[in-house]
Amino acid sequence: MNILQVDNLKTYFYTQHDIVKAVNDISFKIKDNTVFGLVGESGSGKTLTVLSILRLVPEPGKIMGGQILFDGRDLLAMDEEYLRSVRGSRITMVFQEPSSAFNPVFTIGYQIAEAILAHQKIGEGKARESAMEYLKKVRISDPKKIFYDYPHQLSGGTKQRAMIAMALVNKPELLIMDEPTTALDVTIQAEILDLLKEIIELEKLSILFISHDFGIIAKMCDEVGVMHGGKIVEMGSAHNILTSPKEEYTISLLESVKALA
Ligand SMILES: Nc1ncnc2c1ncn2[C@@H]1O[C@H](COP(=O)(O)OP(=O)(O)O)[C@@H](O)[C@H]1O
Ligand SMILES: [Mg+2]
Repeated sequence: MNILQVDNLKTYFYTQHDIVKAVNDISFKIKDNTVFGLVGESGSGKTLTVLSILRLVPEPGKIMGGQILFDGRDLLAMDEEYLRSVRGSRITMVFQEPSSAFNPVFTIGYQIAEAILAHQKIGEGKARESAMEYLKKVRISDPKKIFYDYPHQLSGGTKQRAMIAMALVNKPELLIMDEPTTALDVTIQAEILDLLKEIIELEKLSILFISHDFGIIAKMCDEVGVMHGGKIVEMGSAHNILTSPKEEYTISLLESVKALA
């Protein structure tokens, strides 16, 4: 089964003089318990694809067409109330910037517990216990302290671990990660990718994983779509794309990664 099926998605920006086709008719499927990667250069339309799935495209952007099937329903046809019940619980997100996920005026533990209470019918004590359990699960070294810390007191890596914890607490059916380690130092990035890989395999998660970095995509994903100029120019198993890319663009993207390595 597919946890998500995107058909002919189009998301455009209408600027004063121009139409920018940020997402220009893309289709892909994410099979249950697999990691689907979208890879492409900056500006290729990866984030707009994510924002379209969650129906959070900012003005003056507009979703112009397509279907996004999640659990048999077209998210593009559902009302705002339904979407609110999906976002943050059945579909959750990890962004590049942890500061966008946490409110600076509340402690980490409080915010994770609130995320649980917003979607699960359990008491406050149980929610706090669960929040603590997830801080341990993402191997934050001093979870009891971090629980009572404010976001600005955390290092970038710890904050990103806390955001991953918050994305997991409601046991999402689909987890979307948009450049989850891009803002971090290389060594911390590697640690967090290893942690993610372990959690993904242990919990059999279904994931849309986004990165501009082919090396990371190769490590994390089962299937890959290569994005360029708002289109998916090539798609297939990570193994096939890496070992025998067909499209000119994919080949050049892979060569540029090798050149850096
Ligand atoms: N507010 C905006 N107004 C006009 N164009 C935008 C806006 N936001 C994004 N775009 C355009 O949409 C395209 C895709 O952006 P994005 O999805 O953020 O790329 P990526 O995540 O792959 O780096 C880019 O070419 C960008 O110029
Ligand atoms: Mg982006």
